[in-house]
Amino acid sequence: MHGWADLYAWQLDRTSRTPLSRQIYMQVRSAVLSGALAAGTRVPSSRVMASRLGVARASVVSAYEQLLAEGYVESRHGSGTFISQEVAGLATRRRTARAIRRTVPIPAKAFPDFERSAMQGEARPFNTGRTLIDARTAETWRTLTHRAVRQLGPYDLGYADPAGLVELRANICDYLRAARAVQCEPEQIVITAGTQQAVDIAIRVLLSAGDEVWVEEPGYPLTYAQLMLARVRPHAIAVDEQGLVVDAGRRKAPRARAVFVTPSHQFPSGVAMSMARRLELLAWARQSGAFIVEDDYTSEFRYSGPPLASLQGLDESEQVIYVGTFNKALFPGLRLGYAVVPRALLQAFVGARYLIDRQPATLQQAVVSQFMQQGHFAAHIRRMRQLYREQRDALAETLVRRGAGSLEVALPDQGMHLVAYLRDGTSDIEIEAAARRAGIVVRAISRFYRSARPRPGLMLGFSGFPRQLIVPAAARLAMLVANRDRR
Ligand SMILES: Cc1ncc(COP(=O)(O)O)c(C=O)c1O
Repeated sequence: MHGWADLYAWQLDRTSRTPLSRQIYMQVRSAVLSGALAAGTRVPSSRVMASRLGVARASVVSAYEQLLAEGYVESRHGSGTFISQEVAGLATRRRTARAIRRTVPIPAKAFPDFERSAMQGEARPFNTGRTLIDARTAETWRTLTHRAVRQLGPYDLGYADPAGLVELRANICDYLRAARAVQCEPEQIVITAGTQQAVDIAIRVLLSAGDEVWVEEPGYPLTYAQLMLARVRPHAIAVDEQGLVVDAGRRKAPRARAVFVTPSHQFPSGVAMSMARRLELLAWARQSGAFIVEDDYTSEFRYSGPPLASLQGLDESEQVIYVGTFNKALFPGLRLGYAVVPRALLQAFVGARYLIDRQPATLQQAVVSQFMQQGHFAAHIRRMRQLYREQRDALAETLVRRGAGSLEVALPDQGMHLVAYLRDGTSDIEIEAAARRAGIVVRAISRFYRSARPRPGLMLGFSGFPRQLIVPAAARLAMLVANRDRR
């Protein structure tokens, strides 16, 4: 057992930004918690302590007051101040308590590879999920943000509608009707932090633990992980050149309660779901009473014509939750998206949104609303579509030209990435690692498979990088793959 003698030898740091009173408090506190000062030990008077430590008495008094308020010391009337019984006892218990082994009751595969997700911030070709913001959009954004801040009144600073700003919802509704043939009224639009939150809410509202659902294979790993986190049972259903194979779903999981799809640009293959499959999927939903969650994450960027109409627009029984995001159309750090919710689910959906996160941030919504209202959104999309198309073409052309036949490029009609397929038998995981060593970021397609044999390929984002960066990196990648093939 130590005592005050040890404590008087403390080195107080007089140059630190931590006040001396705080340093004294911390030292006594840790001595009590470690058991160095036993319960019942008398605490020296503030005068003695101050002179031993060579500090002003006020610093010691202040430290003692804090220790007393938090129960580390107790004052006994007429006889002085002592280390408290309860807290010193806690120290002994802490030392003897055996470490409790806790296990997380959710399978590890519910948690995706966060290292890889964190990497999404990297500004290196061909990282996915990156967008370009040109000087014009940046300047407009600044101006609108300043204006929105100036215009915020006391009402705007308080709690607000969990479904989002009325004017933003109206603007989104107009946009979706015109651009995506979505059937909606403004009150059906619920603002979220993006696709991720909209899917989370949909899962909570539609499903219970143990329910079966369909997801696409290959498919978006975050949706799969969210379902696992909710103890739902996802069945991976094959995707072919027409999109999700509805018949395969019927055979594999006939009792599924919902399906999660990316019909306008299947993740990651880029396939657009055919009209026949759309109608088949809607018919299945009607017959079985299941819901469809339509993730329409990059529909703004279609290169061969206007965006494809949404699946939701064909739905006659309000069984589709349509999910869109500004995090792709503008920039991922924005964290704003929306869901178009069938009326029967609306109350539950908004209720869940409120319980998870109260409401979206008012300022950002006001900026996006003005950005849309004044026509900047449509103009930004037009400019980026042009740029992204050039970037897509530069990437595809370089890969094919320099790949010496070892890469088969599926040129996507829309979206922000493409897939370059490898020869059967080549390991995309190995190429992913080799590319990384060469400073190039690619994602192995086999990571997006759950049960079927993967077709090896590389997912390459082209939206986030100017042509001058894309061409040399694509040439290096193509050569790397071709050289491996030759071995
Ligand atoms: C399939 C898919 N959906 C949605 C998103 C966008 O998610 P969020 O809006 O949460 O950023 C992404 C981004 O990578 C995606 O790949």
